[in-house]
Amino acid sequence: MKFSLGFALLIQGSLALALAARQQQITSQEIQEKTSQGLRLLSLSETTAPVWKTEDEKLELLRKHTRFFDVTEVYDPQEALVVENQGGKNLKSLVSYPKPSHQSQVLPLIQTASLSEMQGYLANLTAFNNRYYKATTGQQASTWIRDTVAGIIAQYPTSGASVQLFTHTWVQSSIIATIPGTSATTPITILGGHMDSINLSNPTSGRAPGADDDGSGAVNLLEAFRVLLAGGFKPSTPVEFHWYSGEEGGLLGSQAIAKSYNSKGAKVKAMLQFDMTAYVKPGTKAVAGLMPDYTDSGLTTFVSSLIEAYTKLAWVINDPCGYACSDHASWNKYGYPTALPFESLFNNDNPQIHSSGDTISVAGFNWTHTFEFAKLATAFAYELGA
Ligand SMILES: *[C@@H]1O[C@H](CO)[C@@H](O)[C@H](O)[C@H]1NC(C)=O
Ligand SMILES: *[C@@H]1O[C@H](CO)[C@@H](O)[C@H](O)[C@H]1NC(C)=O
Ligand SMILES: *[C@@H]1O[C@H](CO)[C@@H](O)[C@H](O)[C@H]1NC(C)=O
Ligand SMILES: [Zn+2]
Repeated sequence: MKFSLGFALLIQGSLALALAARQQQITSQEIQEKTSQGLRLLSLSETTAPVWKTEDEKLELLRKHTRFFDVTEVYDPQEALVVENQGGKNLKSLVSYPKPSHQSQVLPLIQTASLSEMQGYLANLTAFNNRYYKATTGQQASTWIRDTVAGIIAQYPTSGASVQLFTHTWVQSSIIATIPGTSATTPITILGGHMDSINLSNPTSGRAPGADDDGSGAVNLLEAFRVLLAGGFKPSTPVEFHWYSGEEGGLLGSQAIAKSYNSKGAKVKAMLQFDMTAYVKPGTKAVAGLMPDYTDSGLTTFVSSLIEAYTKLAWVINDPCGYACSDHASWNKYGYPTALPFESLFNNDNPQIHSSGDTISVAGFNWTHTFEFAKLATAFAYELGA
């Protein structure tokens, strides 16, 4: 009866594991106590339980390039295990995606994208001393994006589009702009990027223009949104544009939003993240690097076909970005299909990010490159929403 004995031991083993996992679960009371002491709960990997850290320790981790989810405000002992099991590192395709089929509408539409509009948006965003999620200037940057989106909507009132703040316990709100569907309210197509920036030596008052990280993605979204409204785009299913707060503080804004969509049972067709789209390392070939991890393989293939159909970009499959790399990871964690087209191969990224040096004057900052990502965003919204 070796087999059954082994089987019994196996059952005992998994029971013990399940019990251990339960004991590791953190109660709401503990979260309240630790939070009131100023501690933050960080998830550092898929396989380890989250740990409590001070804000200073959290900053030290960021300086060491250690990525994490700050789950302090989204951790729910009831759902923790379920949620962890929904996402995952190498998701197979959750949904099947079509081939690009609206060339006759999308090609003329992307011709109307304007680099100078995008440059104007970025000049305004980088003018804030920083866009740190806990700083007044970070809050002002959020208000500026909301007002700019509202200004675009006011120019095209028949679009039916709307914009709202998604508020948090810190001062910088995330922003959600919606182009409603004409035939259904679901599933939603989401394009996202983060509005915040950080100066790692002095987050609160240090200079952090964040031109590439992630001013570039933020203005790709603004320009795609403008082009779609100006072109009279009326999707049949809703298309949303998200500007997330607090990505640099542990994917804070995107986790709060993905969690709220998950709790209300929202169906999401796809989530495409734009985080750094402007830098081409001097001497290297310009490519869009499609992230292979915490993304959906079918959606990634679809994005590669959009790049071929609608942009001048070359694309490659990137090296893995790793755990908690950008806001797409928040959507992946809650079980939604994501993709991330990055500015380059991961190792050739902009060395100036998270500092006062992340400006448009960096050698390698490439307007032509980032402009192509705005076209990609426009095509993505059109092809999936139409
Ligand atoms: C951004 O700033 C410039 C001046 O630096 C201004 O002319 C422009 O209207 C501002 N707004 C937008 C939406 O670009
Ligand atoms: C942070 O900001 C200060 C003041 O603006 C600046 O002197 C310093 O170089 C910045 N740190 C980094 C890492 O860029
Ligand atoms: C800038 O980006 C474009 C588009 O990817 C590329 O064709 C061009 O070679 C890049 N320029 C430089 C100097 O890398
Ligand atoms: Zn970023």
